[in-house]
Amino acid sequence: MIERVFTIEIARVTERAAVAAARLRGRGAEKQSDQAAVDAMRRELARLPIDGTVVIGEGEMDEAPMLYIGERVGTKFGPKVDIAVDPLEGTTLCAKNMPGAIATLAIADEGSLLHAPDIYMDKIAIGPGYPKGVVDLDAPGDENIRNLAKAKGVKPDAITAMILDRPRHADLIAAVRKAGAAVSLITDGDVAGVIHTAQPERTGIDIYLGIGGAPEGVLAAAALRCIGGQMQTRLVVDTDEKRERVARMGISDPRRKYQIEDMVPRDCLFAATGVTDGRMLHGVRFDGGVIETETVVMRSVSGTVRWIRAEHRQLDKF
Ligand code: FBP
Repeated sequence: MIERVFTIEIARVTERAAVAAARLRGRGAEKQSDQAAVDAMRRELARLPIDGTVVIGEGEMDEAPMLYIGERVGTKFGPKVDIAVDPLEGTTLCAKNMPGAIATLAIADEGSLLHAPDIYMDKIAIGPGYPKGVVDLDAPGDENIRNLAKAKGVKPDAITAMILDRPRHADLIAAVRKAGAAVSLITDGDVAGVIHTAQPERTGIDIYLGIGGAPEGVLAAAALRCIGGQMQTRLVVDTDEKRERVARMGISDPRRKYQIEDMVPRDCLFAATGVTDGRMLHGVRFDGGVIETETVVMRSVSGTVRWIRAEHRQLDKF
């Protein structure tokens, strides 16, 4: 079990990454803002008293010089942990200063986060309080909406689904609308998209559906493990090259349908800090001598969700 003292430590890590990226908001500079977030996150991770290995990172070793999959991070004096990072989730959102960019990270005991390659993953997620299996990754979109509505005790027209706005989702969007549900489209950022389902009364989102990044899928699963809810996923392995990458990660069945417990089998911590303003988190505010950040930190062992609004005054640290 990860000690609870790390709750605040990991918030510091995502705060630093978010501030670094936020300095470049709206500059159309996707690569630079991502790099700034990676540098800041890596610097802060190096100070954590952990013996950590990046299992979800910026890419495989040959393609990412920093926070690559397999990189060891932390002081090395401390618990052995797996780390999943996305220093800037929603690089385009940050570059265009659009809502929903976050800096995010999850941490779990060694060997307890799915090692997913950076390929696509099909995802379905709903919040807590429903019977297990009420929705299914393999069921058609309209059937899932009807089943969810029935379980919620409402008509399908009271359900809202969040989906990434991509041509590949045209049929899915049509099916969900045909069932009577509303669709809330996002241009990017499906970690937050999935998390929205955990508090439908606050976010207005009942279900998340569609294909996005696999690394983002594992991060989202870590969050739902803490906050409650159901999620099913499957890697999209449609070429021999992807089959090889999946096998290299130690995944023997590329068609496997994952539940949260398969992706994050043991206790974890999850943190996210807003970079741009979003439905879930405020973005970074630069106000003269103070930098304000908003972070959510979750701990699965207790189910605690902390919203941390921080004012930073030692600006030379950022
Ligand atoms: P990046 O921050 O890496 O750009 O990811 C943003 C994102 O929208 C993710 O949230 C999502 O999982 C993925 O991209 C979807 O991929 P694509 O843009 O190729 O459809």
